Amino acid sequence: MNLIEMDRVTKRFDDLIALRDVSLTVAEGEVFGVLGHNGAGKTTSVRLLNGVLKPDGGRCRVLGLDPNLQGARLRRQTGVLTETPAVDERLTARENLAIYADLYGVPVRECSRRVDALLLDFALLERADDKVSGYSKGMKQRLALARALLHQPKALFLDEPTAGLDPVAAHAVHQLIEQLSGEGRVVFLCTHNLAEAQRLCDRVAVLERGRIIALGSPDELARQVGGALRLDIEVRPEQVPAALDLLGRAGLEHVEYDAETLAVSGVARDRVPEIVQLLVDGGVSLYRVAPREPSLEEVYFALHAREEA
Ligand SMILES: Nc1ncnc2c1ncn2[C@@H]1O[C@H](COP(=O)(O)OP(=O)(O)OP(=O)(O)O)[C@@H](O)[C@H]1O
Ligand SMILES: [Mg+2]
Repeated sequence: MNLIEMDRVTKRFDDLIALRDVSLTVAEGEVFGVLGHNGAGKTTSVRLLNGVLKPDGGRCRVLGLDPNLQGARLRRQTGVLTETPAVDERLTARENLAIYADLYGVPVRECSRRVDALLLDFALLERADDKVSGYSKGMKQRLALARALLHQPKALFLDEPTAGLDPVAAHAVHQLIEQLSGEGRVVFLCTHNLAEAQRLCDRVAVLERGRIIALGSPDELARQVGGALRLDIEVRPEQVPAALDLLGRAGLEHVEYDAETLAVSGVARDRVPEIVQLLVDGGVSLYRVAPREPSLEEVYFALHAREEA
């Protein structure tokens, strides 16, 4: 079942078209990533899906509801971490969370248990009763994330959740996202961190100036850009020169090697069987042949280069 839907959505700000004809769907349990340069339309998408903005064309649906018409009902089941989250600086972390719990109708007997659990999860327990005005940037970010999860939303929108977090806190957020998707929730994740997207996202959309230029799993996108593979080939150490010679004669020049492994880069997927055959016919004993898909980072740059060409 699709929990998030954008159907041919267009959004204009005066003359500027922030999103044009954007369609996507996100299913239960999926972590969906939105990538794109600054100004590509990521935050605009989140704001449309949360009913903060109204589309000029097309429609949005979240959990089957229209965010513009059924916003109040929707917000009880969705959590949002905005790009620049505002937490009340005059209050403590615990007070911030308690107010939200009340606002979102978290049952009173549940409230303090849930608040404590989140404070612990986000490493804020020690400072829970200090005023937020004295928190570091990352601590405020962690508090905002805890707040977005307080009512155990079915759909979660995270706009650059790990921006400004230290590696330990970022790792904790990654684990949390994995856990949430394991529970069947849906996560809509805007990020500039391509390694993060590669690790977490089942599928990603790449936006460029308001248009989707690619959509699919990281591996599917790699195939779409015709991404060349890197092939790691392990042979008997004394056969490295022979293998290099065979590869060279086949026109494969980008080869790095150490004592027993050759790494051939720029290999088209459909040449892999031919390369294996060539080495075997040449009397080289193969211990391991491991093709590696290009990383999402390599794919991202290839996609943008292709758009500009
Ligand atoms: N309220 C607004 N008024 C006018 N223009 C806007 C408004 N909000 C967004 N825009 C424009 O829409 C485009 C998309 O902006 P958006 O904030 O969605 O980008 P983004 O992908 O989130 O970028 P970033 O990576 O910098 O967060 C930009 O050109 C931006 O200037
Ligand atoms: Mg943004």
